[in-house]
Amino acid sequence: MRYRTLIRNAAVVLPGETARTSVLLDGGRIAAVDAAAHTRADEVVDAAGLHLMPGVIDDQVHFRDPGLTHKEDLRTGSRACAAGGVTSFLEMPNTVPQTVTAEALAAKLALAARRSVVNYGFYIGATADNLDELNRAARTPGIKIFMGSSTGNMLVDDQESLEAVFAGTTLPIAAHCEDEGTVRANRAALDPPLTVHDHTRIRDHRAAAVATRRAIGLARRHRRRFHVLHVSTAGEVEILAGQPQDLVTAEACPHHLLLDAADYARLGTLAQMNPSLKTAADREALWRGLREGAIQIVATDHAPHTLEEKGAPYPASPSGVPAVETVLPLMLNEVNRGHCTLRDLVAWMCDGPARIWDMVGKGRIEEGYDADVVLVDMEAERAVRNEEQRTKCGWSPWHGTVLKGWPVRTWAGGRTVFADGRVERKPVGGEIVFDHALGGYWATRDE
Ligand code: DOR
Repeated sequence: MRYRTLIRNAAVVLPGETARTSVLLDGGRIAAVDAAAHTRADEVVDAAGLHLMPGVIDDQVHFRDPGLTHKEDLRTGSRACAAGGVTSFLEMPNTVPQTVTAEALAAKLALAARRSVVNYGFYIGATADNLDELNRAARTPGIKIFMGSSTGNMLVDDQESLEAVFAGTTLPIAAHCEDEGTVRANRAALDPPLTVHDHTRIRDHRAAAVATRRAIGLARRHRRRFHVLHVSTAGEVEILAGQPQDLVTAEACPHHLLLDAADYARLGTLAQMNPSLKTAADREALWRGLREGAIQIVATDHAPHTLEEKGAPYPASPSGVPAVETVLPLMLNEVNRGHCTLRDLVAWMCDGPARIWDMVGKGRIEEGYDADVVLVDMEAERAVRNEEQRTKCGWSPWHGTVLKGWPVRTWAGGRTVFADGRVERKPVGGEIVFDHALGGYWATRDE
């Protein structure tokens, strides 16, 4: 018998409206919206005063498994997701070994089946010579290219290799865009000793804009669906605003939306990530880009490193910040501050990523969709605390920040994976199904 859960009296964020109604989860599916009050269920949840929204889909996380599991693993990373209302994640290939072969991809999927408590998918990484592997990979959202060096030595930036990937493969492509030549020249122009404040001078506005323009040029020339990861500058927003959106999509991360280079003074290398933090004006431009549609989604780039590693003197300190369990409260807090609406949030963090990556049955509360949903309390107010983080790295750049709006219960595939402050321990996550015949963001959005 399938387990049936009836969630009553929540304000439900549906595709066309937000309505006080009931939702029936039956096994792994949403069986009914507006289910009758007397519907038979194994559990009835009275959610009066709460909002029910689709589970968050984070299309950019680094869970370090296999190979770097002292920082994170698929169990701890996915449990952090559950606590944060994230029901699906797409993970990056800079693990050890790197996910650059069909075998490594299959091995990661098998690992996730044993460890993940939420739904999972994995990118395959491009190298200078793995075209055959990229074309053998099927169970994947797409190809990741590091057009800019970062954690894990996966840089691909010579024109010939890039042309080969864009011309010789068919999957959607996502890229980290920071121009390596610009980064190296900027670094060479600075006199040591360097401090973390130099990180933004080295990975500057120009590095981001040059690489983003170059990558978009490749995508347009080869007519390939292309996603710009972690946009950090006003200049990139301007470039993106003029693009054919059936081909080019983009995302912004909570750190670039909510922090800027002034935060180095407070956070030091805890605020070091790639692309670097920029200015308050860039932050504002990213928000404008989201509101006006040049940027379609929000993702975390969850990149855990231990506090000890982060404490090394710059530039030995690694780049990256964790965020899967804080991104939803951070954004709910922005809803409460009036920076966006809950409907915007759902478009950017649930429906949008599902459309961009052709995920079947994800991102919406609608009959027949997967039962990945999260109850949130828009009135709950509390501080982010390092000691409460489930990510293995055990810290957050938002430690001490009071946020209003928190997830209280999360279902993935109809199973409760977070409730009453407790996270599921069994590996109940499911493999995400990608149907690239769907055609991406604009092809499958009905507005
Ligand atoms: O800051 C970052 N850290 N940016 C990336 O692109 C990679 C990530 C990591 O894997 O540590």
